[in-house]
Amino acid sequence: MTTSGLVTIHPLTLVPNYQVGTNVYLWNEKTNSTVKFLSSNQVVTESMFSFLLSNPSQKVFIQDTSLSSYHDYLDEHLPTWLGESRVPRVLKTAVFAESLHGKLTKALELQSVQKLVECGIQCGERFATLGPQAHFDGREVHRTLRHDSSFVTHAVNTAFYAYLIAEKQGHVEESVSDICSGAMLHDIGKIELATIQGASLTSSEQSQDRAQRREKAHPTEGFKLLCQEPGVTQTQLMICYQHHERPDGHGFPVGLVRDEIEVASRICAVANRFDGLTCQREERPGMTRLAAMRVLVLEKNTALDQEATKCLEQRMSQTSTN
Ligand SMILES: [Fe+2]
Repeated sequence: MTTSGLVTIHPLTLVPNYQVGTNVYLWNEKTNSTVKFLSSNQVVTESMFSFLLSNPSQKVFIQDTSLSSYHDYLDEHLPTWLGESRVPRVLKTAVFAESLHGKLTKALELQSVQKLVECGIQCGERFATLGPQAHFDGREVHRTLRHDSSFVTHAVNTAFYAYLIAEKQGHVEESVSDICSGAMLHDIGKIELATIQGASLTSSEQSQDRAQRREKAHPTEGFKLLCQEPGVTQTQLMICYQHHERPDGHGFPVGLVRDEIEVASRICAVANRFDGLTCQREERPGMTRLAAMRVLVLEKNTALDQEATKCLEQRMSQTSTN
């Protein structure tokens, strides 16, 4: 078997004593081909895990048609996985992010605002309940996350950065959950417009005018969508509506100033800006972590909230010892 139709997965996501639910293949350097390592109905054994642990460069694959089951597997076992002390923290970050990617991608495919909202809320709850076990480190988070400009990547990344800020500010679990859910859903207004206009969010063919109109309207469009959904909290709603407001009053859609903007929205604005600068776009490469932080520091108090920016700056410069 060649690697055609296969996608790589990280070896250490194969948790001992659990069934991945899909065939898993290893790359054999000697034969220059793949060999089956695990069948879909088999459980990962301790010896398999030890083998992978001692061979970190071992390439591991699943069939691309099994990606959805693999994401289900990651999602289901995430709590166990985050508690596994042998797994490096950076990898916990990667798997956490990957599971959120899988969940949001699936919800997006269903073309249902209700499913997206449910997914955003679940992801926020996961940050609040599982985040403390993962001991996320700002620099590792930035290094580990994807940096493309797709809707899903931006939502996940913004939620990660918002989590780092919220944790630093000492928000309680319920508030962290709300902030991260809001961050996952903050650009939901772009989806509705893209659907109406029949345009892809990442399409380069969109006219400048249309893109600008969409940009200006998406907080209000998102607000209107979320208002109709049961279970959406005031904080999540305000994050969606206010994440482009600025302390100096030059934001949109209202032009609120300083404390008129809710704390959670200010956090999300900083997280959103940081990911906007560091993501890779067609027209330009993403900024480095340090370069992006320099921009944020310059925008402190004018475009961005001082306190939230300071918290992200600290999270991005400190190395956690946990
Ligand atoms: Fe936005």
